[in-house]
Amino acid sequence: MTELRFAIFSELKEFADEIRNRLTAVPGAQVMVIVDDPEDLHEIIKSEAPDVLYADLGHAPHVILDLIESIDAPLPDLLVSGCQDDSQVILRSMQIGAREFLPQAPNEDDFKRAIDRLLRGREADPRPDKTASVISVMGAKGGVGATCVASQLAASLQEKGGRTVIVDLNFPLGDVALHFDIEPSYTLADIAREGESLDGTYLRSILQVHQSGVQILAAPPRIEDSELIQGEHVTRLLEILRGQFDFVVLDVSRNWNDASVRALDLADQILVVTSLDVPTLHHARKHMELLRRLGHPTEKIHAVVNRHSAADSVTDKDLTRFLGRPSSAAIPNDYANTVESVNQGKPLGEVAPRAALTEAFRNLAEQVHVWCGLTTSPDTRAPKLTDRLRRIFEK
Ligand SMILES: Nc1ncnc2c1ncn2[C@@H]1O[C@H](COP(=O)(O)OP(=O)(O)OP(=O)(O)O)[C@@H](O)[C@H]1O
Ligand SMILES: [Mg+2]
Repeated sequence: MTELRFAIFSELKEFADEIRNRLTAVPGAQVMVIVDDPEDLHEIIKSEAPDVLYADLGHAPHVILDLIESIDAPLPDLLVSGCQDDSQVILRSMQIGAREFLPQAPNEDDFKRAIDRLLRGREADPRPDKTASVISVMGAKGGVGATCVASQLAASLQEKGGRTVIVDLNFPLGDVALHFDIEPSYTLADIAREGESLDGTYLRSILQVHQSGVQILAAPPRIEDSELIQGEHVTRLLEILRGQFDFVVLDVSRNWNDASVRALDLADQILVVTSLDVPTLHHARKHMELLRRLGHPTEKIHAVVNRHSAADSVTDKDLTRFLGRPSSAAIPNDYANTVESVNQGKPLGEVAPRAALTEAFRNLAEQVHVWCGLTTSPDTRAPKLTDRLRRIFEK
């Protein structure tokens, strides 16, 4: 069995020793170092490069979180423990990349479950040098369901264990925040204002965490602020996000502006969302032809049929004939569950876990893994931030 090498951080020496005893009793864990002086943490993470950092947040959680955030080296998988009543601390922990938020004094069972999930996550994602896959989602025509597809795909990728961020590049009227039922305090306009000085620490601090675990960067609420966002901001943003996530999902405008062209250029995969009707397919064909003329390889471009129904007068065969290739995925027409999910601000996995619509998004997430060249074993469900946060908040 793979062993995870742990560094334990707690300012209380006896507490750290007790945690070491508990961890040592758990198969799959090996304690390599204990740190009780905050000043040493940075150096030890750099020199020892443990697989996992367990951090006791103690009585000043934000100070410890600041300390972890300031570490200028690749962070190991992070497990933190602290008071489970403080949702701000929990959310901030998740924002800086914690895989689990454990009770104040985790017991062997807590560690066993956390380690099982970490190991499953590693099996599900064997890439040594992770950089996120970027998936651009563009509607062939207004109202075709591109934002629904982008948002639910992000939730399904997160549910499969990939850290996922969604960025709303469909300004000036982006509504990703609405789909996740959040009111963003910061948006892309703040990214644009940072310009060249944008860095990972600032970016991490402004991303909003949804309870599904998906992190969100919303479009500016004021239409006029959209003018601030230029192609180079998108380039810089993606450069940073690629290093911090497994998947970056972009809800891209179909208006072919500077930002959307950049987002399509930098994407690993492009999903053109269409429906089975002639006007929308007509637009889908035009967008796909332009993508080809711009040099995007065919295998990077995927037509996704949304609101698919057997009753559609245009058939899948017609689509293949019209687009010159079959669609890559079909999402069924299910208005009730779609609206319920948006109204509650919860992903379909929670609102309608067994619906065909939900299954279709799980399949799409699976296909995205395949298109991105990531092998996954279908029976391993990696650790879910959704589950982690739900567990915590339901207590
Ligand atoms: N699979 C689906 N089944 C039923 N209804 C759906 C489905 N997908 C989306 N819808 C509905 O379609 C409408 C438009 O969805 P959405 O906002 O995602 O479209 P859009 O393409 O992003 O629009 P815009 O062009 O304004 O950005 C919403 O009312 C949504 O609930
Ligand atoms: Mg939209």
